[in-house]
Amino acid sequence: MDLGLDGKVCVITGGTRGIGAAVARLLGAEGARVLTVSRTEADLNLDVTDPTAPGRIQAECEERLGPVDVLVNNAGTSEVKPLGELTDGDWQRQWELHVMAPMRLMRALAPGMADRGRGRIVNVCSSSGKRPSLTNAAYSVTKAAQLSLSRTFADAYAARGVLVNAVAPGPVETGLWLSEGGLADQVAAAKDISREEALEAQAAKVPLGRFGTEEEVAGIIVVLCSALAANVSGAAWSVDGGAVPVIL
Ligand SMILES: NC(=O)c1ccc[n+]([C@@H]2O[C@H](COP(=O)([O-])OP(=O)(O)OC[C@H]3O[C@@H](n4cnc5c(N)ncnc54)[C@H](OP(=O)(O)O)[C@@H]3O)[C@@H](O)[C@H]2O)c1
Repeated sequence: MDLGLDGKVCVITGGTRGIGAAVARLLGAEGARVLTVSRTEADLNLDVTDPTAPGRIQAECEERLGPVDVLVNNAGTSEVKPLGELTDGDWQRQWELHVMAPMRLMRALAPGMADRGRGRIVNVCSSSGKRPSLTNAAYSVTKAAQLSLSRTFADAYAARGVLVNAVAPGPVETGLWLSEGGLADQVAAAKDISREEALEAQAAKVPLGRFGTEEEVAGIIVVLCSALAANVSGAAWSVDGGAVPVIL
């Protein structure tokens, strides 16, 4: 099946690890030309929360590969922190990473896509944006805002050929959970249980009974970037093993 991605120029933030790296691999396998962006070990190393990041990403991408056809706003992170311990700084950092950074990138890149009459944007949100989790309320609230942001840009740009969608993954077995000091270790420490018990408890919250894989989430992102999704705009596609019990 031809996904129509051959030769497409794609920018993936957080494209060096986890879900973003899987997206980069799958898009590359379809013949797309990919620019990964993260703070370390990417094609372009920068912090997406820097207000100058979009201008630099656009300029570098156009110089190296050409105008951007596809943007995947994937950079994001979380930590275990009770509601009462979240500081103003914690809230602000989550807001900058999950709302301001993708907003600035869409604001910079969507008009050019619209001028060319085509473009795809996928924002990697979270199931906890649909159903808040107290693991980190600032994460949940800013992921909910990122879903609203996606819908806003979808409404603004659909008529000009730029399709904006979101995905909402549930727990996924990436470094965010599994790396040393990651969420599994943090949950274990907070609840005084083992790391294995923490992972089992999280998997048990999912109807499928397991974590998702980065390829499972990346596959849906790639479909949304592809010719198969030519009539999809403003969707928030759950890839969560059934974790959020609504048909939205
Ligand atoms: N894993 C899950 O269970 C899960 C569930 C729902 C949603 N998500 C969402 O999926 C996305 C990817 O998560 P993941 O699990 O794949 O995470 P991950 O394995 O920790 O990878 C995160 C990526 O984002 C980059 N990044 C983080 N902060 C950045 C910044 N300020 N500027 C530029 N790049 C930055 C990282 O590279 P550097 O550190 O080098 O910058 C890395 O490439 C996130 O938005 C996350 O919220 C994940």
